[in-house]
Amino acid sequence: MNPRSDPFIAPAARSGPDSTQDAAAANTSAHMSADTSPPHAAADAAAIGVPLPHESAALHVSGEATYTDDIPELHGTLHAALGLSRHAHARIVSLDLTAVKHAPGVIAVFTAADIPGENNCGPVVHDDPILADGEVLYLGQPVFVVIATSHDLARRAAALATSEDVVRYEPLEAVLTASDAKARQQFVIPPLHLTRGTPADRIAAAPHRLAGTFEVGGQEQFYLEGQIAYALPKEMDGMHVYSSTQHPTEMQLVVAHMLGWPAHNVVCECRRMGGGFGGKESQSAIFACIAALAAHRLQRPIKLRADRDDDFMITGKRHDAVYAYEAGFDEHGRILGVRVEIALRAGFSADLSGAVATRALCHFDNAYYLSDVEIVSLACKTNTQSNTAFRGFGGPQGALVMEVLIDSIARELGLDPLDVRRANFYGVGERDVTPYGQRVEDNILEPLVDELLASSDYRARRTALATLNARSPVLKRGIALTPVKFGISFNVPFLNQAGALVHVYRDGSVLVNHGGTEMGQGLNTKVAQVVASEFGLPLSRVRVTATDTSKVANTSATAASTGSDLNGKAAEDAARKIRERLAALAARLLGGDARHVTFAGGTVQSNGTVWPFAQLVNAAYLARVQLWSDGFYATPKVHWDSNTLTGHPFYYFAYGAAVSEVVIDTLTGEWKLLRADLLHDAGRSINPAIDLGQIEGGFIQGMGWLTTEELWWSRDGRLMTHAPSTYKIPAVSDTPAAFNVRLYRTDNVEPTVFRSKAVGEPPLLLSFSVLLAIRDAIAAAVPDARHAPPLRAPATPEAILDALDTLRADTTVAAREGPSCAPNEGSSRDSGEGPVAKPTETA
Ligand code: MTE
Ligand code: MOS
Repeated sequence: MNPRSDPFIAPAARSGPDSTQDAAAANTSAHMSADTSPPHAAADAAAIGVPLPHESAALHVSGEATYTDDIPELHGTLHAALGLSRHAHARIVSLDLTAVKHAPGVIAVFTAADIPGENNCGPVVHDDPILADGEVLYLGQPVFVVIATSHDLARRAAALATSEDVVRYEPLEAVLTASDAKARQQFVIPPLHLTRGTPADRIAAAPHRLAGTFEVGGQEQFYLEGQIAYALPKEMDGMHVYSSTQHPTEMQLVVAHMLGWPAHNVVCECRRMGGGFGGKESQSAIFACIAALAAHRLQRPIKLRADRDDDFMITGKRHDAVYAYEAGFDEHGRILGVRVEIALRAGFSADLSGAVATRALCHFDNAYYLSDVEIVSLACKTNTQSNTAFRGFGGPQGALVMEVLIDSIARELGLDPLDVRRANFYGVGERDVTPYGQRVEDNILEPLVDELLASSDYRARRTALATLNARSPVLKRGIALTPVKFGISFNVPFLNQAGALVHVYRDGSVLVNHGGTEMGQGLNTKVAQVVASEFGLPLSRVRVTATDTSKVANTSATAASTGSDLNGKAAEDAARKIRERLAALAARLLGGDARHVTFAGGTVQSNGTVWPFAQLVNAAYLARVQLWSDGFYATPKVHWDSNTLTGHPFYYFAYGAAVSEVVIDTLTGEWKLLRADLLHDAGRSINPAIDLGQIEGGFIQGMGWLTTEELWWSRDGRLMTHAPSTYKIPAVSDTPAAFNVRLYRTDNVEPTVFRSKAVGEPPLLLSFSVLLAIRDAIAAAVPDARHAPPLRAPATPEAILDALDTLRADTTVAAREGPSCAPNEGSSRDSGEGPVAKPTETA
């Protein structure tokens, strides 16, 4: 097949990195002419499998897309800003808001005392105050809200929160890090502990062992559109809240609880977000609640838009983690027994940390069969922002340490890490049960990695790099291949449900509403494609409307990558019901069998007669046939026992693998990603253009987490990196010059919507290959080192230099001590002191 016309390959790979126009042309032609259509696109479902542009692409690039802040403001709208705490942990001794109330433009100031219902917006545990009450639990916690005539005046008045005269505190002891919280056994949920087999015995008896520690930083979601809510009071104690949220139903419920109202008084609406990435799954709540509180108290429309610094200071991020692990393995690197403790920094409240810690536990295995394993997952309670969902939801934190461990095993044995990975891969029909008891039934790791090895030329390039490195004293290159296996479904079974509402109007145009939210990931495009294909209509005949709790009720968050799986199926169900009614009518009017009526190309055909779709629709209206329908979907098969931490939490797995090649400067610690080859499994893709975009974006976002994005708190618990000036997310210039991104062609073994697979989060884990390529380059710089590079993440230039320094010192000591580093009988070099040897990879 001509790669230029293959929609399953990213444009850069198709036409070279610099011919964007060609790529765009190839993209367009792919759905214009029959011979360039992808193999999966059936003729009667023209919209499915075609790389159509995002439904809002034109609006995004022209600036016409309406975000919450762009909604025309109603007359009388006032603006809110938050007064934040300046201590990580303190008792509020006194609060004197006189100065704030008298600041220019201020209309009102509200505190926790003004909340009529429950002062809580915690999604699971009720430990998340909307406004601090008596005590502050982190630096940046909202203490009061100022309402003023303009956004600017509100912010100026709110800044008085830093004044001793306004809020007086009695500082209390603050616990800031996961390690400190763990030392005090301070957790937001009880520790999670899963053991299978006898890992300690297996490690003790293993021919080789190693033990180590590792740490990875957190990550700010950095959605381009910050947190925002616009609340409109309505008659009879009603409230309409426009919220930039991944979870409108949750916003409806927390606002209702806060006001002490039944849920039916509150409507939450979201047309789109400018990114959520998990950060608007629960943490949009504080903004929605405070805007609604002020709107209720003043009976005026209230807009609360956090500026970037406040957003950073108030909201939670990806959990950072510290790990301790030990493993026993054979001479091929096959793991015989492994133990790990994952200590996550949860922050001051539970938020979603229980589910994050569970997903971390369920992803420690990544792509590998672990016969004897012990996993401890801790959600440590600290006086910092309450960490929350972020693309991967703990999965990346679980799997990363496994990839680091495997890399260390390979270096210990002098093997190619790829071979150690393959030695440990899940089997097919054997060695296929995860630590939590779910059988891996759709394993495609081997063929997928084979395909990537061939397309990336991994082996030859690895050999070439060794030669190149030998001749290059300062610049060192590294390469790594890492695989991904990611479980799809919410770990909590009841969340795996969705609803949809489809209207067909008399002119044959279609309106769709569903419970999912659009955050740029293309969910609405995919849902529209599903409905269009059900009716055999072009995509232009289907419009998707804003998510609205008064249309589809009791929705789950758009999260866990399940958006299109759940809402696509629900919308398909709704459309199918209408189509069946139309087919019955067509058979009645035109003759023939309802089961053989076809819907394609905007027409309906029965018994040899063809009618335009709109003609049949109008006939149906006149015949009093219902032309709208609801739809519902509940994911089959999933169950989970949260006491034993076992079950079948995932409907299926998504797979992928990546090869990254980097160069590091061993004098400055600077580095660059030279080339990345990504091969990812999106099942039978509904929209290859959108899926490729998700894969590229997830990979680059993960690379940011593991390399440049560093969150740094001062000793008193103040987050110092709270703006792009000090917090570095990847830019377009950080994407590699050679970026080959492809979809692996396979059908989901489960009957998901058109046999597609979820793609939102799993590709983020492909970025592990970047971190491990940097590790490989560091190892190349100190070839006689005794240990694997002690590289922490994010691998900033400082971290890279630290790792080089430690390794070099290690080599010097080794040289002085002589050959004592040779493997002991029955134990590895790293663990000469026994299975729970002192950590050797302390970062
Ligand atoms: N893509 C864009 N452009 N913006 C986002 O905010 N969020 C990610 C992913 N891709 C996100 C994104 C996260 S965290 C999830 S869970 C999924 O999209 C959610 O959408 P889906 O379930 O429809 O894939
Ligand atoms: Mo995504 S972290 O599940 O919102």
